[in-house]
Amino acid sequence: MAKVDYLRLSVTSDCNLNCLYCRPRTEAFFHISPLSYKEMLEIVKVLAGSGIRKLRITGGEPLLREDIADLIGMLSGIRELEDISMTTNGVFLKKAARSLKKAGLSRINISLDTLRKDRYKDITGEDCLIKVFQGIEEALRAGLLPVKLNVVVMKGINEDEVLDFIKFASHKKIITRFIELFSTNKAYQFMKYFVPNSYIKEKIEMAFGPLEEVDGVKGSGPARYFKVNPPQPRRWDRVGVIGFIDSATSDFCHNCSRIRMSCDGRLYQCLFSSQFLSVQDLLRSPVESFQKFIAEKKYYTRDTIKRESFEMSMRGG
Ligand code: 5AD
Repeated sequence: MAKVDYLRLSVTSDCNLNCLYCRPRTEAFFHISPLSYKEMLEIVKVLAGSGIRKLRITGGEPLLREDIADLIGMLSGIRELEDISMTTNGVFLKKAARSLKKAGLSRINISLDTLRKDRYKDITGEDCLIKVFQGIEEALRAGLLPVKLNVVVMKGINEDEVLDFIKFASHKKIITRFIELFSTNKAYQFMKYFVPNSYIKEKIEMAFGPLEEVDGVKGSGPARYFKVNPPQPRRWDRVGVIGFIDSATSDFCHNCSRIRMSCDGRLYQCLFSSQFLSVQDLLRSPVESFQKFIAEKKYYTRDTIKRESFEMSMRGG
């Protein structure tokens, strides 16, 4: 079992998009009043004292929180933290990238399921793909590296874009990561669109040649990374690193090192676990409550994972 040293911190449950498989923006029910930055800072300090070394800012959409760079700046001051990253949909990234980098953010993951304007609107409900492209450019320019793209491939929706993503990312030296669709509240009805990563891998190998696993990609977590090997013929040698998160078809819980916090201060052991430690309990007896919490962390397999419904944004994003 891996040591727990990674916290995903949701700073808001709100999102500006309404993606097919994620939470619906229109349902006000999902809005939760978030903790203040001061409160978040205090909690992260406590957790850093208990072994947390890596932090990822999530949501909802984290760039919806005003002056989010200020929070990053405060968190950067925590000595024990070695790496602060963020997952965003990228829509507001163009304006934010430089200040985030300056405040101490090291790298960024961008959720993007299509490179086509009309599809982007179908999937997210908003016609703003161009803003995401601009956000990616600015993140690269600002040095939020490596920039990673999170792509959820769905049958009949975007499965024909796998090779386009590889080409897009290789050209820009971005890492593409294919995340298998997993069942949440919203995605439950949607699982008929599920595509296994084995299918995607096969498609890539047919086009570019055999894939070979590589180590040493920063912040790997549950992802496994591959490169085309040998990089022949020549026109393929720009194909970069490709990541796969086999959320549904492999057991990766055993080396999970992460915990998650919702924006209102509930600490979850796992995305698929409804038990939580409240911030009040944590702050009342930081060492004891945290140790107990970690000791009780569940490690599922494909068969034992709980298929209960939940909102991603309410479990630390
Ligand atoms: N299945 C797979 N991936 C999901 N994400 C959100 N909901 C799901 C789901 N049901 C992805 C988003 C984001 C990342 C944090 O998780 O695309 O990039």
